[in-house]
Amino acid sequence: MKCTYLVTGAAGFIGFYVAKRLSEEGNIVIGIDNLNDYYDVNLKEKRLEILRSFSNFIFYKIDISNHEQLNDVFKLHKIEYVIHLAAQAGVRYSIENPKVYLDSNIIGFFNILEACRWNPVKHLIYASSSSVYGANKKVPFEETDFVDNPVSFYAATKKSNELMAYTYSHLYDIPTTGLRFFTVYGPMGRPDMAYFSFVDKFFADEPIKIFNNGNFDNDMYRDFTYVDDIVEGIIRIVGNPPKEKPKSRVLNIGNNTPEKLMYFIETLETCLSNSLGRPIFFKKEFEPIKQGDVWKTYASTNRLEEIIDFKPRTPINEGLQKFTDWYCEFYNKK
Ligand SMILES: NC(=O)c1ccc[n+]([C@@H]2O[C@H](COP(=O)([O-])OP(=O)(O)OC[C@H]3O[C@@H](n4cnc5c(N)ncnc54)[C@H](O)[C@@H]3O)[C@@H](O)[C@H]2O)c1
Repeated sequence: MKCTYLVTGAAGFIGFYVAKRLSEEGNIVIGIDNLNDYYDVNLKEKRLEILRSFSNFIFYKIDISNHEQLNDVFKLHKIEYVIHLAAQAGVRYSIENPKVYLDSNIIGFFNILEACRWNPVKHLIYASSSSVYGANKKVPFEETDFVDNPVSFYAATKKSNELMAYTYSHLYDIPTTGLRFFTVYGPMGRPDMAYFSFVDKFFADEPIKIFNNGNFDNDMYRDFTYVDDIVEGIIRIVGNPPKEKPKSRVLNIGNNTPEKLMYFIETLETCLSNSLGRPIFFKKEFEPIKQGDVWKTYASTNRLEEIIDFKPRTPINEGLQKFTDWYCEFYNKK
């Protein structure tokens, strides 16, 4: 059945793919984004250009920290489902500039909750993050684990979102699902993320900085999740809201197979070599782990699978090949 969806952060990496998939399926998709310049705005414009080719996609350039603008959108459209992906992302930037996280991730999230309170929706899905697990040692990370020690302000805002959503579900009966994403990557991804910036550095003939202390025996691990798997998860979850009161839950969505950082980098080199048709290697510099970074992320996906009979599976060699092929094409590097 065709429905009306609000996708916040529609010009962003994950929001773009979600809005595209919903638009392709013939739904009415309202996209909002403030198109901020945290990273290359051209990339956001390019994503929007693709979305604007759908007549059933409607875009508003608004800031979610402005409740009046947001409420106008809810008044204009009878929104059934909200997929809330707009946020200030990035762990490291939150250490330099926490205020913008307060505005977008706390005030903005509060405005979304209030809008859903006064304009009831069938399901609110919002992006949380694996960063809420902080420096937890027990793996895989399970949703029932203790997550009260966030090591970055970004993580603190995501954990706060989960608490706020719980309260709004409890008080106002809004069905909510928070998805804890684990390092999402793919074509048209975020230039501030390591895999993207490594390829940028290669073409700029600069060394890549690897923040693992150069410790290969005890390397960092990341549960890298391909963006198509995230979209599939979101689409399956959206029509499957929590039914028992309080209608609030949190789910991990990750690949459930953490990879050593150095293996990830070698795979990226191989994929880029394939895309270019010649062998390439990154120049590497090893540095101490950065404040706010965590050593290992590893998602338990049992809860997710129980609910939607799906878990992300794309192996990194497949996903990274799609990324480097896209990069070389998009930036004309062949
Ligand atoms: N990509 C990942 O690995 C990852 C991991 C964990 C969690 N997340 C979360 O998933 C969501 C989407 O992430 P992404 O990787 O697509 O990031 P992104 O930065 O590409 O997308 C976020 C979009 O939201 C918009 N935005 C930011 N603040 C806004 C505001 N105040 N008003 C309106 N629009 C605003 C930005 O312009 C951007 O286009 C975010 O909530 C992020 O915190 C992402």
